[in-house]
Amino acid sequence: MLEIQGLTKKYGKFLALDNLNLHIEKGEIFGFVGPNGAGKTTTMRITCGLLKATSGTVYVDGVNALTNPDDIKRKVGYVPDFFGVYDNLKVMEYMEFYGSMYGMDKADVDEIADGLLELVNLSDKKDVFVDTLSRGMKQRLCVARALIHNPDLLVLDEPNSGLDPRARFEMKEVLKNLGAMGKTIIISSHILPELAEMCTSIGIMERGHLIASGKVDEIMQKTKGSQPIHLRAVLSSDEEEETQKESLTRLLKEQPNVEKVTQTEDELLISFNGNDEDAAILLKSLVDANIRISNFYREKEDLESLFLEITGGGKA
Ligand SMILES: Nc1ncnc2c1ncn2[C@@H]1O[C@H](COP(=O)(O)OP(=O)(O)OP(=O)(O)O)[C@@H](O)[C@H]1O
Ligand SMILES: [Mg+2]
Repeated sequence: MLEIQGLTKKYGKFLALDNLNLHIEKGEIFGFVGPNGAGKTTTMRITCGLLKATSGTVYVDGVNALTNPDDIKRKVGYVPDFFGVYDNLKVMEYMEFYGSMYGMDKADVDEIADGLLELVNLSDKKDVFVDTLSRGMKQRLCVARALIHNPDLLVLDEPNSGLDPRARFEMKEVLKNLGAMGKTIIISSHILPELAEMCTSIGIMERGHLIASGKVDEIMQKTKGSQPIHLRAVLSSDEEEETQKESLTRLLKEQPNVEKVTQTEDELLISFNGNDEDAAILLKSLVDANIRISNFYREKEDLESLFLEITGGGKA
């Protein structure tokens, strides 16, 4: 769906994109992460035919974005990181305004806009002035507007920025629904764990380069070693507590994939380098050894740490 090769962008002498390569399949939800100034917005704007590249090629569904910006604008829906000011425009008028830019009939636009406003949960705001909407609502309206011409590719530049947790959740639901509808979506964000939850693949960008990219699972697999297991066991009242904890620690250290065991106040923290299958085997052998386990869970993948690791501590 999107094929970027050797993309380079210079602003004057400044090299913002340096020979960038990126491949995104149809139906993917691709998360673009990187510190401020990495080149995410630049890449997105070029992909949408809004900015000229210095060199390289960008194809959206076989159409050259660099030589056919007008065709690209029909294929792509863009949600910029900055929402403009729309004095005296009501929500439905706003949708009609954007529809007219694509040469659509008012009747068609109204029908499509009805469906889109429902999709983004703004059906009851049709007659409200855009400027009076909350930030979260404006962001969702922006998504609806970007879909008015039924593009195959939706490009969203930090749609979650400035949203509270509830509004983020709502935005995530909207994007999941769009993914289920088969749209290809590119989304940039600084909120990495959130991206991992809803994206099928991610690319980590720094100083104009893509330094890691792939399926979320693959990238996550690389972080597995850093996710400890938390374990709590019910101790017997017959024996000294410390003795029991020590023998449990000893037993754990003998198990495969266990690197280190640390005792905290009320649980044991196990540094574990295995996958989920290995964790299940560990749990079974503890149960078989008659350890009465009351709590056993593995910490979630920490994309934030991975990101800092890969970018050498770069600011997220
Ligand atoms: N119009 C411009 N003129 C000059 N330099 C620019 C221009 N637009 C962007 N840049 C520079 O290009 C680099 C990449 O910017 P870009 O906006 O693409 O980064 P970004 O990854 O989107 O960052 P952020 O996370 O802050 O949105 C930055 O160093 C920026 O200063
Ligand atoms: Mg940006």
